[in-house]
Amino acid sequence: MAHRARLAAVALAVAVAGCGPKLTFDPAEIARHRLLAGAPRGFMFGAATSAHQIEGSTRNDWSEWEKGHYADGTPHVADGASAARAADSWNYWRSDLAALQLLGANAYRLGVEWSRLEPMPGSWDEDAAARYRKMFAGLRAAGITPIVNLYHFTLPPWVAARGGWDWDGAPAALAAFAGRAGAAFGDLVDWWCTINEPNVLVAKGYLAGQWPPGVRVPRRGALALAALMRAHGLMTAELRARDRVDADGDGRATRVGFAHNVRIFDPRTAHPVDGVAAAIADDFYDEAFLDAITLGRVRVVLPKVIEIDEPFPALAGSLDYLGLNYYTRELVIGHLRSPTPYQAAAVPDRPRNDLGWEIYPEGLTRLLLRYARRGWPLFVTEAGVADSRGVWRDDFLRAHVYATDRARAEGAFVIGYLTWSLIDNFEWSHGYHGHFGLYAIDFNDPLLVRRPTSAVAVFRDIAKNLR
Ligand code: FCB
Repeated sequence: MAHRARLAAVALAVAVAGCGPKLTFDPAEIARHRLLAGAPRGFMFGAATSAHQIEGSTRNDWSEWEKGHYADGTPHVADGASAARAADSWNYWRSDLAALQLLGANAYRLGVEWSRLEPMPGSWDEDAAARYRKMFAGLRAAGITPIVNLYHFTLPPWVAARGGWDWDGAPAALAAFAGRAGAAFGDLVDWWCTINEPNVLVAKGYLAGQWPPGVRVPRRGALALAALMRAHGLMTAELRARDRVDADGDGRATRVGFAHNVRIFDPRTAHPVDGVAAAIADDFYDEAFLDAITLGRVRVVLPKVIEIDEPFPALAGSLDYLGLNYYTRELVIGHLRSPTPYQAAAVPDRPRNDLGWEIYPEGLTRLLLRYARRGWPLFVTEAGVADSRGVWRDDFLRAHVYATDRARAEGAFVIGYLTWSLIDNFEWSHGYHGHFGLYAIDFNDPLLVRRPTSAVAVFRDIAKNLR
C-alpha cells in the first residue's frame, strides 16, 4: 500500500512539474570547459568491455541462443552472427592493454567469464584463471586499475540447464563463483562489480523475449529480478569474506558495486495517465533494485502481476559504490486498459545513435543528481554511442564527461567515468551492428586490428586534465 501511495505521489509530482527539470547544455560552454580539470585526485577515467562481447571462444547460454531462430525464421541475432570469435580478446588482450595505454586511461572495467572459469559445477579452470591473472597484473603494471565484473548476462550451460534465473540455486551458485574469484584474484583486484544491469537482463530476457531465456512472462521476470537481488547480496558477502588482500594499498581490500542501467522515463504529456505510467516504468526499472539494497529487502512490485517483499539482510550495506550505465531516455505514453501499461516513444528531432537510441547527455546530469541523494559514491561504469560513421563519438564523449562535471559541481560525488566501449564488439542481438568502440574493428580482418577512432585523441586530451 505504502508503495502504491509513493507511486501516486511520484505520478502527481511528474504531472505537476511536467517532464522533469529542464536542462539544456550549451555546446559553446562544453567547448570552453576544461573537462575533468576539477575532478578529485584518484578519479577513474577509462573504458569498459564484457567477457562474452570481446573474448571469443566462450561457451554459455548466449552461445546457444546465437544459434537459434524465432518461430518466423528470423535469427535471434542480426545476420545470424555469433560471438564465437568476437574481438578475440582472449588471445589479443595485450592489444587491448596497449589501446588503453594509448588512451591514457587509468581504469578498465572488464569481465571474467563464469562459464570459462567454472565450466562444470564446482570446477575451476586453472589455465583460464592464470590468463586472467596475467591480464590483471598487466593492467596494474601499466597503472590501470582493473574493475572486475563477475556476471554480465551470460550463464554457464550447467546453470542454464537447471533453469537459469528460474532455478532456486542460481543466486548461491553465482555467489560461490564470486567467492572463488575473490580468493583467486583478490591480490590483484580490489574493485568488483557483481552484476551488470539486472534490469536489462530481465527486460530483454523475460519481457521482450529477445535474449535468453527468450520469454515474455512478466511474472517470471519479476521473480528473476528478485533472484538477481539475492545474488548481488550474497556475492558481496562472499567477496568481502574471501578477498582480504588490499591490492592497491589504500586500506580497503574490496570495493563492491553493481552496474545499474538507468534510463530517463519522461511522460510524453502532462496527462496523469502518462505520469503514472512513467512512474511505474521508472519504479520497476530504475528504482526497485536500489530500494532493495537500501531497505535490505527483496522487493519487486509489478502492479496487477506480482508483489514480492521479504527481508534479505545480505542486501543491506552491500554497495561500496553504485555503478551507473547510461545511454538514453524514453518518452512514456500511458495506457489505462491494456496488458502493457505503457508504450515508449521517441523525442522527435533529436540526434540518435546507429541503434536508434536518443543521444541525451543532459539525462546523465539529471540521473547523477538524483542518485547522489541515495548516498553511495557514484561511478559512471558505462556511457557510449553506436556510431559506425564516426559522426557522434567525439562530441558524445565530451558532452557526457561534461554532464558528469556538471553533476559534480552541483554536489554529486562521482568517482569515475568509463566509456563503453574500449573496442568494437559483439552487441548482443544486434550482432556486429553496434559500433561502440573507441577503437574500431573490422570483423572480417583476420588480425582484428584495433584502429583508433578520432575519439581516442579526445579521450587523451581529457585524461591529461586529471590531477
Ligand atoms: C549495455 C550493456 C553492454 C552493451 C551496451 C551497449 O546495456 O551493459 O553490454 O551492450 O549496453
